[in-house]
This record gives sequence, C-alpha cells and structure tokens, in this order.
Amino acid sequence: MIKKLKSHGTWIGKWTFILAATGSAVGLGNIWGFPYKAGTNGGGAFVLIYLLCIVMIGVPIMISEIIIGRRAGNSPINAMKRTALDSNSSSLWQFVGWSGITAGVLILSFYSVIAGICLNYIFIAASSNEFLSSSEQFGSVIESPANLLFWHSVFMLLTFLIVSAGVKNGIGRMVKILMPMLGALLIFMVIYAIFNGAFIKALSFLFAPDFSSVTSETFLSAMGQAFFSLSLGMGSIMAYGAYMPKDQKVVPTSFTVASLDTLVAMLAGLAIFPIIFAFNLEPNSGPGLVFVSMLSAFNQMQFGQLIGPIFFILLSIAALSSSISLLEPGVAFLSEEGYLSRKNSALAISLFAWSLGIGTALSFNTLSGFELISGKNFLDSLDFIANQILLPFGGMMIAIFVGWFMKKELIINEIGYVNLIIYKLWRFFIKFIAPTSVALIFISQIF
Ligand code: PHE
Repeated sequence: MIKKLKSHGTWIGKWTFILAATGSAVGLGNIWGFPYKAGTNGGGAFVLIYLLCIVMIGVPIMISEIIIGRRAGNSPINAMKRTALDSNSSSLWQFVGWSGITAGVLILSFYSVIAGICLNYIFIAASSNEFLSSSEQFGSVIESPANLLFWHSVFMLLTFLIVSAGVKNGIGRMVKILMPMLGALLIFMVIYAIFNGAFIKALSFLFAPDFSSVTSETFLSAMGQAFFSLSLGMGSIMAYGAYMPKDQKVVPTSFTVASLDTLVAMLAGLAIFPIIFAFNLEPNSGPGLVFVSMLSAFNQMQFGQLIGPIFFILLSIAALSSSISLLEPGVAFLSEEGYLSRKNSALAISLFAWSLGIGTALSFNTLSGFELISGKNFLDSLDFIANQILLPFGGMMIAIFVGWFMKKELIINEIGYVNLIIYKLWRFFIKFIAPTSVALIFISQIF
C-alpha cells in the first residue's frame, strides 16, 4: 500500500509543459557546448550524428520519462516506485529517482556559481574597462570569493523564489515570460551577427561537413551532448511530465521540445561564431568562449556596451530556466511526502545546494589546489560525478525500466494513439539502442 501523497496540480494548456521542458533543456550546454563541439568535430558531419542521437536516444528516453512522470503525477522517486509496483516489479526502482535528485542538487550547486558569473557579466559588459584585458578581467572576477559568492547567492535566490512560488504560479508563470524573452534576444543576436559578423565563415565552421574528422570519439561526444542538452537522466523531465495535462500527446510534444532545443543550439552558434571570427578570436568552448573571447569582442565593437549585456542576459535566462528544473524534482519529493511545505522544501534544498556551491566558488581561487577526485578540483569533481556518472546511469536505467519492466498496458495508456510504426520504432530504440548506447557513453567516460 502506498501512502497518499500531496498533489502538485497540472499545468494549464499544452504550451506550459513545452516551454518549461524547453527551458530546462536550453541552458549553458546549448550555448557554449554544442556550437564549439560541432565546429571542431567535423561541422555538418557532427550535426548529422547529433541529430541521429537526438532522434534515436534522446527523444525515446524523453518520452519514457514523461510517461512515468505523468502516470504518477509525483516526484521522480515516487513516480518510479509507483510505476514499478504497478508493473509488478520491485519498489527498489525508486533508486533511479534518488540518483536523479542527487544529480540535480549537485549540478544546481555549481550551475548557480557559473550562472552567477553570467549575471555579474551583464554589468561588466555594460561598463568598458580600458585597464584590463578580457582575460585579466575574468581573472579578477574569479579570484574574489566574495564576488563569486555574492552572485551565486543572487542566482540561487532567484531560483528559490520561482520554485517556491509553486508549479503553476512559479515555474509555469515564469517560463511563459522567460522563454519568449530568450527567443527574442537570441533572434536579435543572430540578426546582429548576420549584419556585423563573419557570418559565412561561421556557417562553414558550424555546418560544412568534414567526414574525415569523424571518429568513434565523435559519436560519444555527440551522444553525451544530446543527453545533457535534453536534461535527461536526472528526473527534471520526469518531474515536469508529472504536471502535463492528461490529454496532451507525449510523442509529438517530445519532438517539439527536442527540436526547439536543437534549434537554439544551432542559433547560438550563429550568434556567437560570426562575432568571434570577425574579431579574429580563437574558437573556444565553455567559460573561455563567453567570458573571455566574447567579452573581448564586445569591448572592441561599436555598441558593444549594449550588445554585450544583452548577450549575458540571454545566457542568464537560459541558465535560470534550467536551474529551476534542477531544483524542482527534490522539492516535489519533500513537499508531496508532507514533511515540509513547498516553500520550506525549496528553502531546504536550495540552501543545501547553495552551501555546496561555496566549494565550487572557492575552487576558482583559495581552494584551487584541493582535489576531491584525484586530478580534479571541487567543481570538476562534482561535474564528473553528476554529468559523467549519475546522468548516464539514470538514463540507462530509465530506458531499461521502460523497455523491459514497465507493463505494456500502462505505457499504451499514457502514449495514447500513435502511428503503429512510430510506436514500434520507439519500442525498438528504447529496448535495445538507447540502453546500449548510453552504456557505451557511461563506460567510455569512466575509463
Ligand atoms: N540541459 C541543460 C543545458 O543544456 C543542462 C541541464 C541538465 C539542465 C540536466 C537540467 C538538467 O545546459
């Protein structure tokens, strides 16, 4: 017998789920991960492989997470437990939910520090600094623990406020504001880059196919990127699926979210690389790309003090709509169990993630020599545990559960009517292709 859990309610209209899931998916990974990987791994050839991974692994797992979440209407832990029991399997399957929530909290702790730097850069880019180069500027930002902690706190507070306001009034309402803003800013940046940047050079960097640079590494990197970019394996999509109205179609919705995520990743490349090439800067990825190279471009360009802040607002919005989805699964669990109110659950988990984030903030400066896992500082260790171990593990388990253990009638009930061929293809991918491919990423990343 499962005890009665508090209900979280559902979202109104089909767009709320789409915007929230797209908000979760579109994050720093799309902006500073995808474009660089595509550009340096065979351009169009990488994009093609990436699209295959999205369709064959990403979308099938997304469909599975939504089915489990929506059926139960609960947090990933209870959703896994219920669905497993209703499928006559062991309630131990709930560990997939536990691993997801752990991953979410770990990622949130460092995502917030980095997103805090994005917030800080809105102001840095608005005021030109003639005395420091952009890399000295970045150095001065990260060498100050007080500065990093201040912006980390601001970002975590924003995340807390949105999630604590509830599923409908907090997350649902905010994504309806944030996502259109993100879309508009991105389109503005791309148009700006078309007219002012080396657009053709960027197009060819991102999309000209070079199959000679495709190796087995390329496949693994595309697969890992697809997985992280769609926020799979850690319960964000499962938690959001719990609030999806029952009459919304799971399969087309998943394709919509995956397409929007991919579109944003490509547009981000078309916003960034024309500017990078126009100023003869080296293509790069991660913080070096946006905080050093892009800032240097903004410092040199006309109206840079206007365009720069717009770019960093865009980045901050992308990060915020992802961070709320990192916090939600844990908050849903604590509050539905009735241990704490929603507000207090959000407070407890964000405070915990905030404290863990202190380690990340200090790993840039005073604790840079400290290694949690050998050879990796605090930030890199958490990143490794969450993104390289827990996410692929969760994704693989979800695929195995839905492919091999979940009762067929429960699945059919949730999927509703779909074209038989699509259904058969999905079954095939989720049973065989997804678990083996994710197992491959998993194994290759650990060893
Ligand atoms: N998908 C986000 C990105 O591309 C990261 C993320 C992963 C968010 C997992 C939530 C859950 O940056």
